[in-house]
Amino acid sequence: MKKIAVFVSGGGSNFKAIHHQIIQGNISGEIVLVISNNPNCGAIEYAKINSIKHVIINETRYPNSRTRNELLMETCIRTEIDLICLAGYMKMLPPNFVKQYENKILNIHPGLLPEFGGKGFFGMRVHEAVINSGKKESGATVHFVDEIYDHGPIIAQKKVEVLESDTAESVATKVLILEHELFPEVVKAFCENKIIIENNKPKIVEYNEN
Ligand code: GRF
Repeated sequence: MKKIAVFVSGGGSNFKAIHHQIIQGNISGEIVLVISNNPNCGAIEYAKINSIKHVIINETRYPNSRTRNELLMETCIRTEIDLICLAGYMKMLPPNFVKQYENKILNIHPGLLPEFGGKGFFGMRVHEAVINSGKKESGATVHFVDEIYDHGPIIAQKKVEVLESDTAESVATKVLILEHELFPEVVKAFCENKIIIENNKPKIVEYNEN
């Protein structure tokens, strides 16, 4: 059983999707820790209801950035975390943390990276950019995290058609549905040691994208 930490800032629908798959016995892992900068978000509410250990680390509680970074690292190390899932976490991770957990931090992005990613591309901005570009498809990406926003190696993607009639809102809805399938699938593969690195690129063994 892998010990999973989920980092969240918002509603936590991806966190819930992963948790549901765990409850149903489809993922051989356990969410043992939730970290958030936002004590009032839906994800923390869900962690409380489900008695999942949650820790709030933010500027208000810990104004000193070094203290914040140390607390983050210590909390994860003490909890013996095997996998970290960034599920709508809006804070940049410290470089030493990323190094410590190299190839153990997953992020979900609501677009087809490497396009429509990087600083400033989050939430509806991604979907608005897709609509403005005239692209005929969008989707979701799960990748390992490195020191640069949305830059780390891509593990898996799911695509959806963008129709003439689509708006940023309708694309967001379609992509979020894909995210809730994709993220648990990648977490499951990780927990089964099925993500291998070949020629510096991660790949899921025996993974069917459809
Ligand atoms: C998702 O769209 C995800 O791709 C992005 O942040 C959003 C989080 O949504 N990184 P939720 O909190 O999981 O509902």
